[in-house]
Amino acid sequence: MDPVYRTDASPPLAQSAVEARACAEIWDKFAQNDAQRYIWTIRQGNDPQEFWQSGEHTVAREFLPLIRSYQVRPALGLELGCGVGRLAFPLARHFQQVLGLDVSRSMIQQVISAATEKRVTNVAFCAIAGPEDFVQLATTNPTRFDFIYSLLVFQHVPDLSTIAGYLLVIRTLLHPRGLAYLQFDTRPPGLSYRLKMRLPDFLLPRFWRRGIRRIRRSPQEIEGCIRRAGLEIVAQLTPRTAYHRYILRVPPTSGTSS
Ligand SMILES: C[S@@+](CC[C@H](N)C(=O)[O-])C[C@H]1O[C@@H](n2cnc3c(N)ncnc32)[C@H](O)[C@@H]1O
Repeated sequence: MDPVYRTDASPPLAQSAVEARACAEIWDKFAQNDAQRYIWTIRQGNDPQEFWQSGEHTVAREFLPLIRSYQVRPALGLELGCGVGRLAFPLARHFQQVLGLDVSRSMIQQVISAATEKRVTNVAFCAIAGPEDFVQLATTNPTRFDFIYSLLVFQHVPDLSTIAGYLLVIRTLLHPRGLAYLQFDTRPPGLSYRLKMRLPDFLLPRFWRRGIRRIRRSPQEIEGCIRRAGLEIVAQLTPRTAYHRYILRVPPTSGTSS
């Protein structure tokens, strides 16, 4: 297949807000320190196979049954916040092409090396600075994606307007018969959560510090963004948990043609 997208990790298409730069810097540090550990924090031992198997498992148990039951074309997949390809590589075995985007250039460099090492050729990766670059992708590329997914990403994004911006672009990039599969942490914020959110990083364990910690959002906040983006909720999986997934599509009445 001809490459459709940039596969380099050259500078992002445009620099965006301070928050996006801070996010990129922090994730670059995590990527350089120990990418796998920061991506999949529940890993028990040091076996990298466990990390890659977790991605295989998610694709086999979560993505493929959904893709089949909604009859999504297994053509073009798009991952927002792809990290080092834990999910993109297994998904690529079932799709014609998968594009991974990430705010961290270091993650993108690592995922490109991993693609070469694993000899996966139907994937492409690109660093983005935030929703603005994503908009540029939508406007310069007429391609519409059949399956857009993002796991373990929005839970780390501190600014709700960034999430709202991404949802607007997802709406534009999603094929009329495609699905989006997006995960959020929607556990109610208890007292200990609110206390931990106020403490300075030096008092907190590693995975509770700014950047890597999970930010809880209310379903109302998220559903407001989804509605304003013009997306429709088709289903929800394990709502009000740390692994709340929204299955979204372009509403059939919105007049888009396939
Ligand atoms: C916990 S990792 C998850 C990676 C991958 N989705 C997986 O499940 O293996 C979070 C990823 O999201 C990226 N990320 C964080 N904030 C982002 C943002 N605002 N825009 C795009 N990517 C972001 C990070 O660089 C990191 O690679």
